Amino acid sequence: MDGLNILATGRKIPARCVTNDELSRMVDTSDEWITTRTGIRQRYLSGEGETNAAQAATAAALALERAGLTAKDVGLCVVATFTPDHSTPSLACEVHGLLGLPESAPAFDVNAACTGFLTALEIARCFLAAGRLDSPYALVIGSEFVSRVVDFHDRSTCVLFGDGAGAAVVRLSENHPYACRLGARGDAEILHAGGLGSQDQTLHMQGKAVFRFATEIVPKSITGLLEEAGKTLDAVDHVVCHQANGRIIDHVVKKLGAPPEKFYKNIQRYANTSSASIPIALDEMRELGLLQPGQTVLCVGFGAGLTWGATLLTI
Ligand code: UT7
Repeated sequence: MDGLNILATGRKIPARCVTNDELSRMVDTSDEWITTRTGIRQRYLSGEGETNAAQAATAAALALERAGLTAKDVGLCVVATFTPDHSTPSLACEVHGLLGLPESAPAFDVNAACTGFLTALEIARCFLAAGRLDSPYALVIGSEFVSRVVDFHDRSTCVLFGDGAGAAVVRLSENHPYACRLGARGDAEILHAGGLGSQDQTLHMQGKAVFRFATEIVPKSITGLLEEAGKTLDAVDHVVCHQANGRIIDHVVKKLGAPPEKFYKNIQRYANTSSASIPIALDEMRELGLLQPGQTVLCVGFGAGLTWGATLLTI
């Protein structure tokens, strides 16, 4: 299988930071409840006049600049999102226009909820491997305005989510082994958001059922992918879980008997940014100097759909 090299990453986070205390003035909640049940301390929420397209394009432009590339070098643009600005054009086409990508570069959105970025990455790899693009570089973005579909009167959901975008520039590389395994199970009951055009646009979730699903599927996804790749967790330098709840990550660590420090956590700063959570974490880790050439990173996501997936990357 062709390997995949993440050449560079970028992120864009809205300016407005909303603390737990601020939320507790809007709904009947408290910093103590949110922190102990989820690990979240704050989140960033988009404001008036901001667009998901501009957010995604800013993260992508940063990733391109860091890769030493320009818009004309891009052969494909895939955006993972379940909160686009419009039903059509897609967020990816809006990013295409904002950045001035070449007309030969296809652009489309992927909706796999919080597994979106890993799904988009796998799709980009398949397109690159098919060899029919004009350029070997693909832009893969996860960008969400989850606050748009959150009911800020519903304390059981509004405290959990945040907005943001993460982007990666990737190309095939034999020196960067890669493996991916994705899955789905149709279930609209436990996690559902109406979104654009729906009568009830807001997000509804059976929290405990999602928690059970996550703590079952995440360890399974990790061990399944490692088995397939002929590796153990010892060979992995970092695990980047979708950041939905710090307690979910703690459960996974316990179930696998893994060292907790291997599992990156930034949910305290951003809350759950859905498809953006994994690329935001990768960008932050790169900035902190945690990602070193040759290291192995296992990313694992789960979310509405239901969807899930795990990806092994070499830095
Ligand atoms: O991207 C994937 C999306 N989502 C997830 O991964 C979420 C997975 N689930 C979870 O993270 C957890 O189930 C939650 C954090 C959502 C909830 O935690 P929990 O420990 O399962 O709490 P709960 O839903 O059982 O609620 C316990 C109590 C209830 O009160 P009573 O019935 O015991 O009196 C809730 O009404 O906490 C109450 N509650 C709150 N209290 C203060 C629910 N939300 C809040 C809140 N502040 N924000």
